[in-house]
Amino acid sequence: MKKVAVLASGRGSNFQALIDAIERGEIPASCTGLITDNPGAFAITRAQKAGIPVHILDFACFSGKDDYEDALCSTMRGVDADLFVLAGYMRILGHSIVREFHGRILNIHPALLPSFPGLHAQRQSLLYGVRVSGCTVHLVDEGMDTGPIIVQACVPVLDGDDEEILSERILEEEHRCLPLAVRLFCEDRIVVEGRRVHIVRGGPSA
Ligand code: GRF
Repeated sequence: MKKVAVLASGRGSNFQALIDAIERGEIPASCTGLITDNPGAFAITRAQKAGIPVHILDFACFSGKDDYEDALCSTMRGVDADLFVLAGYMRILGHSIVREFHGRILNIHPALLPSFPGLHAQRQSLLYGVRVSGCTVHLVDEGMDTGPIIVQACVPVLDGDDEEILSERILEEEHRCLPLAVRLFCEDRIVVEGRRVHIVRGGPSA
């Protein structure tokens, strides 16, 4: 059984999808904590309902990014997790955290990377005029949404879509892809070779 901790800044619907998949027994893991930078995040209510310990690091209470990152790093060490999932965590992780937890941090992004990294990916997709969008779950490296890709799914972009409608369509796929990627990680089925991720059938030794 692996231990999974989640970092989220807001609504937490992806966090909820993970909680539900774990509760249904689809992921061989337990959720050991929610870490948030936002004391108003609805993700906190979701964690409390599920009995998951919450760690609130209110960014506004720190003297700056370094101070905040130090506290975040100690909190991440303290929650004792094999895997950290960024599920709508709206800050960029500092390089030292990424290095310390290398290969153990996943992120979900609402576009087909490497297109449209960064903020407002759905808006960027609409402005560009792509016909297909989707979501990407990837390992986190030191770049902005650049780590090796584990799972992607596509959705069409339809005439008349606005940011909200497209985001909603993508979100449905996010709620399927994130638990899937976490399950693959927890089953030790992810093997990274350079930029490519191979999904093996059993554990890597099987
Ligand atoms: C999702 O679209 C996720 O891909 C992005 O932020 C959004 C978070 O939604 N990084 P939620 O908080 O999981 O509902």
